[in-house]
Amino acid sequence: MNEVTRSILKQLEQTSQEYWNISSQSGNFMNMLIKLMKAKDVLEIGTSNGYSGVWIADALKETGGHLITIEFWEKRQCLAREYFKKCGLSDIITCKTGSAYDVIKDEIKQEFDLIFIDANKQEYIKFFEAVHPLLKKGGVILADNITSHAKKVAPFVEAISNHEEYQVQILDLPDGMLMAYKI
Ligand SMILES: C[S@@+](CC[C@H](N)C(=O)[O-])C[C@H]1O[C@@H](n2cnc3c(N)ncnc32)[C@H](O)[C@@H]1O
Repeated sequence: MNEVTRSILKQLEQTSQEYWNISSQSGNFMNMLIKLMKAKDVLEIGTSNGYSGVWIADALKETGGHLITIEFWEKRQCLAREYFKKCGLSDIITCKTGSAYDVIKDEIKQEFDLIFIDANKQEYIKFFEAVHPLLKKGGVILADNITSHAKKVAPFVEAISNHEEYQVQILDLPDGMLMAYKI
């Protein structure tokens, strides 16, 4: 990671509560996982101001990959675009504006190596149903706020944990991160 990207991440960490960003530990974990998996195609549901997107795309720069990230709050996505540009990551990120479920159903026609779910917690189950067909075998779903919003995400956690095509583990990262490997 270059100095500019590192300092933008540090800057964004000052406002992480306001923008509901993941923890730096979770960002660092995703960055390493993408490099370990040599993941190329990543989908993110919930861009906010781009904090997690910077962690993801920084790893994709190394693997030669691409990130599609979805956000319905335009003001936040504008901020994200600015930070992606400052980090020199704009070329490898496609920002889609709109309601994630509709965008996935209407606009996303490709498969992914990794899908990161971090938007409205009650919709996790709906997002899962929409993205399941888009995840390659051997691919990974990550979902944040599994322990911090346990009640709201319970239908999703139950569905994916009982799904025969997934091996699931909840990781002890801040807020709880679910990792599911597609068999
Ligand atoms: C927890 S924040 C994402 C934080 C971001 N992943 C990060 O760590 O930097 C969730 C974001 O998802 C957006 N969001 C929530 N529900 C959504 C939906 N159904 N479709 C699109 N965006 C949604 C919210 O506006 C919010 O900015």
